[in-house]
Amino acid sequence: MKIDILSLFPEMFDGFLGTSIIKRAIDNGLVDIEVHNFRDYSLDKHKRVDDYPYGGGAGMVLMCEPIFRAIEDIRTDESVVIMLTPGGKTFKQEMAINLSKVKHLILLCGHYEGFDERIKTIVDMEVSIGDYVLTGGEIPAMVMTDAITRLIPGVITDESLDSESFNDGLLDYPVYTKPAEFRGMKVPDVLLSGHHQKISDYRNNERIKRTSEDRSDLIGGDDGGK
Ligand code: ADE
Repeated sequence: MKIDILSLFPEMFDGFLGTSIIKRAIDNGLVDIEVHNFRDYSLDKHKRVDDYPYGGGAGMVLMCEPIFRAIEDIRTDESVVIMLTPGGKTFKQEMAINLSKVKHLILLCGHYEGFDERIKTIVDMEVSIGDYVLTGGEIPAMVMTDAITRLIPGVITDESLDSESFNDGLLDYPVYTKPAEFRGMKVPDVLLSGHHQKISDYRNNERIKRTSEDRSDLIGGDDGGK
């Protein structure tokens, strides 16, 4: 898979792309991630990418020209072009799974007041990572890239993916490691029993219990503002 990220602040991605599982996925050739500065596509002699909004109002608006030119340069017939914006469709695990099967993703990060409305005509989807407003689309692009990359076959083990939260609409089961008792808090006996069937039943029950207690909205209930 190839992911191209268009941003005004490519340096924000250095730590993200150079660390842990994402770095390993890149090094192993499982994903190719390139960050572009769409300022490079500005035709303005001062490399300007934003201007005042028509009709007045606060902040600056990202202009059509550099963004159209960048996307037209980078996209292929296999590309899905995504605009990161708080008004987009909410990013969820199901969307991550679907997008992990795409050959080429282009993530467009906004900044300032937002994008000129006409930029929407050149994108395939508008996506938000949640109902809050960030200073730009860079962190949302990292969130999406991370959630999608870990689903690419070979990036992490199939076993890790099998039982994880949201896969089948349920949260993950609780996990423990050594010591068996810490400050009076004991690891449930069943996990020390070595009895595989009992452990599996315990974990399934915990998944249902946790989901109904913490995220009942996932199973058709009210989330109580969570
Ligand atoms: N840009 C600013 N806030 C955002 C959000 N919540 N999701 C996606 N892009 C954004």
